Amino acid sequence: MKELKSSYPVLEQAKAHTYINSDKYDAMYKQSIEQPDIFWAEQAEEFLDWYKPWDSVSDVDLKTADIKWFSGGKLNVSYNCIDRHLVSKANDTAIIWEGDDPSDDKKITYQELHDHVCRFANLLKARGVKKGDRVCIYMPMIPEIGYAMLACARIGAVHSVVFGGFSTEAIRSRIIDADCKVVVTSDESLRGGRVIPLKVNVDAAVADCPGVHSVIVVQRTGGDVAWNDKIDVNYQEEVAKLPAACEPEVMDAEDPLFILYTSGSTGTPKGVLHTCGGYLLYAAMTHKYVFDYKEGEIYWCTADAGWITGHSYIFYGPLANGATTLVFEGVPTYPDAGRFWQVCDKHQVNVFYTAPTAIRALMSVGDSFVEKADLSSLRLLGTVGEPINPEAWHWYYEVVGKNNCPIVDTWWQTETGGILITSLPGAVDMKPGAAGKPFFGVKPALFDKDGNTLEGEDQGLLMITGSWPGQLRSVYGDHERFYQTYLSQYPGNYFTGDGARRDEDGFYWITGRVDDVLNVSGHRLGTAEIESALVLHPAVAEAAVVGYPHEIKGQGVYAYVTLMNNATESDELLKELTEFVAKELGRFAKPDYIQYAPGLPKTRSGKIMRRILRKIAENDLDTLGDTSTLADPAVVDNLVSNRIVHG
Ligand code: PRX
Repeated sequence: MKELKSSYPVLEQAKAHTYINSDKYDAMYKQSIEQPDIFWAEQAEEFLDWYKPWDSVSDVDLKTADIKWFSGGKLNVSYNCIDRHLVSKANDTAIIWEGDDPSDDKKITYQELHDHVCRFANLLKARGVKKGDRVCIYMPMIPEIGYAMLACARIGAVHSVVFGGFSTEAIRSRIIDADCKVVVTSDESLRGGRVIPLKVNVDAAVADCPGVHSVIVVQRTGGDVAWNDKIDVNYQEEVAKLPAACEPEVMDAEDPLFILYTSGSTGTPKGVLHTCGGYLLYAAMTHKYVFDYKEGEIYWCTADAGWITGHSYIFYGPLANGATTLVFEGVPTYPDAGRFWQVCDKHQVNVFYTAPTAIRALMSVGDSFVEKADLSSLRLLGTVGEPINPEAWHWYYEVVGKNNCPIVDTWWQTETGGILITSLPGAVDMKPGAAGKPFFGVKPALFDKDGNTLEGEDQGLLMITGSWPGQLRSVYGDHERFYQTYLSQYPGNYFTGDGARRDEDGFYWITGRVDDVLNVSGHRLGTAEIESALVLHPAVAEAAVVGYPHEIKGQGVYAYVTLMNNATESDELLKELTEFVAKELGRFAKPDYIQYAPGLPKTRSGKIMRRILRKIAENDLDTLGDTSTLADPAVVDNLVSNRIVHG
């Protein structure tokens, strides 16, 4: 087998060195830690336009969960992402849109973006949306999803984007939790040639949300949809009547910008709350330095706007920097597995940012699809969402990047707003599989489970000491939950939920979640959410879900279900349950395997022992451990003998 290099020094990062080198990284990092307020004030002035300067740079007390950055400072996020660029860039492309069908694309200039966003903002106002109101956005990857987000930001409304792959139950619970009065959606979406009924899902969700008075429908396919004149609003018809000017609302840096729901280990998804000033600064600054973004370049992040990566690195960060950002509606394998590379070729993409799961899937079909495309425009590659295995890293580096494009492996989370640990082109070596070093102002720490800080080379819980501007400020509607989930464990530190190893050079290697959160194809999923969906089915009494290693998806979903007394095991029921999860939660959350479990392994106090369930799902029976503390050890024998052995 070919030997894989374990480190690529800075010097080999041929095509990207613009802003920093190792010395500059060290000096800037040092200042950001030793004099954070001076450092961040300089950055806030450089990156953003303010109507009024802040009263204090940072005002943070993690012990009382009170986090403020630039408070008293006034700005508008949409002004920073659009209006201020009009002086010099009105006719430059802001968004390149590439449709699901390769013949469908368009370019939107900064001036056009301005006009669309203003009209959208005026439509929201006409429907009664005011500063501070919440708007749910459930849309395909079309430019209008960006217009909708920026229109909210323009008038001070708080958006809550729900990933278009989620289904009814997920939409309904998010609308209710954030008390949204308006939903923005499309008739249908197109993914890989398949039509997905977005409005049908919204209609079903909204039927149980009496607070929703308007559903703004952007036509995408023109497909037939049910129409309720009382609440449905035809976007195209209405915006045509509205002016392309809308004064941006003056916002405090600490006013909310958006809520984005994310899965935790327990309970319902949490509404992660980000605010205007710190978030935008952090997104813009990381976008420039991590991707070494230079004016005029074409930048493509393949994420969906329904996740934080799409928020920070398709729309807010790039647009704040006046970049050209590519918005892709489709999937990597449609019409064939060469689609990513054809799009890079067609639009002469310079910076390309995707997830390891996509790289693994495309690597598995061989090199020929990559070789058919001219990828000479590529200058820098990035990954996000999960650890990348060295084989996939090397394929990405050698076959896609032709040994000439640095790879940035970016570790971060919905809660962190932007990238916290990464390699930096021209400044930090690349080690395949390692996330890298902290970004400016970020102080990672490793703790053992008793709360002791680990120094030097070691492995433990990854915590972040102190605050940074992009940090979440709260869990929407439940500040106590914010404190309990992230700040209570080791006071003064933010708990990431990840484990990590620090090597002899101070590089961080993420080892994965330490809680019951799964990472399926780069999508974060709570086992509790899938379990809740399963138990909604009338045949299911109880369910337990665990992850197992999956070659392409990173993790697969393995569910154990205990049936009601009156239900009967059958193959049809298994199929029905799988489809039921797809219908309730979304196709991407479908269990790969469901095993009938007459009983689940529980402690005497009734707690499910997931460790044992994980081992059985992984077919790792040698280390099942001590089962004598179980209320009924015999259930394990049953599960082991009926386990589904998979490849
Ligand atoms: O476990 C880590 C993993 O994804 C989790 C965050 O998921 P989410 O909030 O959906 O945000 C994903 C995109 C930022 C983390 O707790 N993760 C993210 N990036 C990496 C990663 N694991 C390893 N390496 C990464 N680069």
